[in-house]
Amino acid sequence: MYSEKFTESIKAVEAAREANIAYEPARMTAKEKEDLLAAYHPDYRKDQFTNLVIGPNKGEKVPHELAEMLQAGSRIKAEDVDLTSPDYDVDVLVIGGGGAGSSAAIEAHEAGAKVMIVTKLRIGDANTMMAEGGIQAADKPNDSPAIHFLDAFGGGHFAAKRELLSKLVCDAPEAIQWLNELGVEFDKAADGTMITTHGGGTSRKRMHAAKDYSGAEIMRTLRDEVLNRGIPVVDFTSAIEIILDDKGNAAGAVLMNMETGDLLVAKAKCVIIATGGAGRMHYQGFPTSNHYGATADGLVLGYRVGAKLLYADTLQYHPTGAAFPEQIFGALVTEKVRSLGAKLVNRDGKVFMHPLETRDVAAASIIRECSDRGEGVDTGNGEAVWLDTPMIEKIGGEGTIEKRIPAMMRMFGKYGIDIRKEPILVYPTLHYQNGGLDISADCMTTNVENLFVAGEAVGGIHGRNRLMGNSLLDIIVFGRSAGKSAAAKAKDVEVGALTLGHIAKFEAERAAAGITGDEVSPKLLPDYTHHRSES
Ligand code: FUM
Repeated sequence: MYSEKFTESIKAVEAAREANIAYEPARMTAKEKEDLLAAYHPDYRKDQFTNLVIGPNKGEKVPHELAEMLQAGSRIKAEDVDLTSPDYDVDVLVIGGGGAGSSAAIEAHEAGAKVMIVTKLRIGDANTMMAEGGIQAADKPNDSPAIHFLDAFGGGHFAAKRELLSKLVCDAPEAIQWLNELGVEFDKAADGTMITTHGGGTSRKRMHAAKDYSGAEIMRTLRDEVLNRGIPVVDFTSAIEIILDDKGNAAGAVLMNMETGDLLVAKAKCVIIATGGAGRMHYQGFPTSNHYGATADGLVLGYRVGAKLLYADTLQYHPTGAAFPEQIFGALVTEKVRSLGAKLVNRDGKVFMHPLETRDVAAASIIRECSDRGEGVDTGNGEAVWLDTPMIEKIGGEGTIEKRIPAMMRMFGKYGIDIRKEPILVYPTLHYQNGGLDISADCMTTNVENLFVAGEAVGGIHGRNRLMGNSLLDIIVFGRSAGKSAAAKAKDVEVGALTLGHIAKFEAERAAAGITGDEVSPKLLPDYTHHRSES
């Protein structure tokens, strides 16, 4: 329900609606985009980054909040942990129970490995569950993995690791088939063909979806498969330190029961980090669309044992986070809303960018509108722009919103806003970690043997910006691949003597660099009782 203070602006949006539907502003040139990003995208705010002083990425910049966690001390002392009689002994230890971890576990199990999932919350408590708009795959006659590659490579500023992006797009059609056969209820036409739409930066309609709760549908299916296979899931238990063996290879993890704080030891021939993203780090004070557990844990676990990071200075601010009402501040308004025809307009109802620009460009455009241009709408909790959702019904016909984006209709409907009739207020929200641990195409980290990574904890698949729908895709493609690779590798692994010697080594590096703080990591859960500005 909008109060009177919004009435004038809403009237301007309504008055411009018909003309705006027909109007398509030109796409920005490469130079215009570069200038826009440099001036308005949060990744370019120099004062928000710290240069690391220890570890494999020493000298490189990362957000302040991440630097604090990467350079913090361990939660444990090596002598507090008895490594001689492990509580679990498996071939493949999967850390994380989201889409990537579940896919990895399923494939490792399929390959005959003894596999176990450990997760700090419950299986499915993950960003996968919250993904809305869809999953890309070039499986239509007018499309190809090569075209998908070009879209994603350009959208990621030509920075993606080619072998990773190539694997992503080439394995995509098969990933959709796999999910379909496992039971994911994709949106289909009456003849059984998949319905696909555009996303920002796509040149073909290749977004497959389950309405606007695609991630929940995929996670439901993967979770059922994990449980039906009887794969052990140790929940409410965090991995807090990777264990190496005396050859320097990953060989398990120290686990902490989240309720009791008790420590457990899991020995493994191979370890897969699938811990997801970092939205709950609230970089630069942004709200987030992410799950409560998204605290960059995997990056910390890997970094402390020497695994390299790639592009850890680049984050994705989803252009359309809910900006009003306050109760849903930062929640995801799926890009599918734009795919279905809704345009972003300022407080005067003016379209200020091409509707399908990539996310970083769209986010920067909104920030510009709300700052220097002074064309934002004052929500009472910051500035925002309108996303003119009633356009969708005008373009697609009555009932389109209820059919295609029912979760959006419900989310706003709970607060008396009927998105079929009224526009909604949006502003960028912290959505995705573009950077992460550096891996090869087999998903093993480039410099720690037997340590694999999948999902949002990986860096370099998408470059410096990700297109919509390529994240649900990467958790499946790289999750499955990590599971297969780890299971195969485990066959030849002889684990040496377990050690936590890296903790003392890291502590010595901290001391030598003059780091004195008593912060410990991984963070595990966000702390909403303590804020940097209050400390
Ligand atoms: O807008 C969305 O539905 C988000 C999709 C994604 O991040 O891939």
